[in-house]
Amino acid sequence: MRTEPAWPSTDEMRARLTQLQETAPPTGTVDYVEPPRPVPTGERSKNVLRPERLSEIVGQDDAVALIQRFIDTCQRKDLTLDNVLLVGAGGTGKSTFSHVIACEMGVNVYEAQAPVNADTLLALRQVMEDRDILRVEEIHLQALSERRGKTAGSQPEGLYALMEDGVLPTAAGLLDFPDITIIGTTTDEGLLPDSFIDRFPIEPHLVPYDETALAGMARWNGDKLGVVVTPTAADMFARASRGVPRQVNNFVKNAASLNDDIVGTEEAREVIVSLNHCTLDGLTIDMQRMLTFLYTKGRHENAKGDVVYRASVNTIATAIGKSRDSKAIALRVEPFLIQQGYIQIGQGRVLTDAGIERAKELTA
Ligand SMILES: Nc1ncnc2c1ncn2[C@@H]1O[C@H](COP(=O)(O)OP(=O)(O)OP(=O)(O)O)[C@@H](O)[C@H]1O
Ligand SMILES: [Mg+2]
Repeated sequence: MRTEPAWPSTDEMRARLTQLQETAPPTGTVDYVEPPRPVPTGERSKNVLRPERLSEIVGQDDAVALIQRFIDTCQRKDLTLDNVLLVGAGGTGKSTFSHVIACEMGVNVYEAQAPVNADTLLALRQVMEDRDILRVEEIHLQALSERRGKTAGSQPEGLYALMEDGVLPTAAGLLDFPDITIIGTTTDEGLLPDSFIDRFPIEPHLVPYDETALAGMARWNGDKLGVVVTPTAADMFARASRGVPRQVNNFVKNAASLNDDIVGTEEAREVIVSLNHCTLDGLTIDMQRMLTFLYTKGRHENAKGDVVYRASVNTIATAIGKSRDSKAIALRVEPFLIQQGYIQIGQGRVLTDAGIERAKELTA
């Protein structure tokens, strides 16, 4: 039988931190920093939509089966889980998997944002215990800061040594460190050098969510929030969510805030279209604006006399009201349009035939 993780109480943590501050090592030019905070059970369950057990994870069957086997073996042999790398777009389950792993292992999880510097590691060394998990978000920033060269405040190679040899290099020599698991999460594995990726023996492959899995999440979320999401409404939320579980959560949260018991087709449409200004196939207002701008204002004839619909990113950003943030186009607007086959990157951004058809529907 599983036992609940033994979380330190707030008082215990405070006592540990006070003790830690009293015994903090001299750090020369860098101020002493507090370690990242652990996430206790109570706080985890504040987000009722975040699964806590592997059995509650929807989809990702291969990743779940793999992680289950690693966890079972560690528990049978009383071992620390190897370091885990989780890669995926925003809102697709990286934090969820980290929390579920910590919950299943019954250990504390500490959270840090990369780059994790030597002082943070020294502080963590005082509070972490064997088997605990350190979750490092956006771990590619660790590698980037290494590439850009170290500064007094960021010595990224400390984390490397810890991952490789379980020790912490300091000016005073190598310090031993609790036997911990590091779970690195990133939205962009391409920014990680191979030597870094190799330090994560476990890399579950997170696959895109299909609409069946997303619809399953919509119904599960409805149960958690006290409303019944009908199968048709669940399918609508799934289709409009662009493959992102967090988007499904947001739709269902909206629906549960607006309705007492049943969320059906009309309620789903109200949330998706009227409240979130999305189309039923998931195009956000900015995506709709980008397609219609290209179609209505981007018409050009190329050298061969063919009609193309295109514009530069800066022009599009200005046209849809994001002139100060043209990166938003590349990060948040065009990736889904490219995936759907509506846009191609050429001289600027160009509508494909499918994009022209979709833009015609939007302007009809
Ligand atoms: N496989 C899944 N099964 C059930 N729910 C999920 C799953 N993946 C994600 N979710 C839901 O989506 C929400 C967002 O996921 P999560 O916070 O894990 O994303 P993330 O990949 O860490 O995003 P970010 O890159 O923004 O940190 C979770 O709170 C959870 O409710
Ligand atoms: Mg996250």
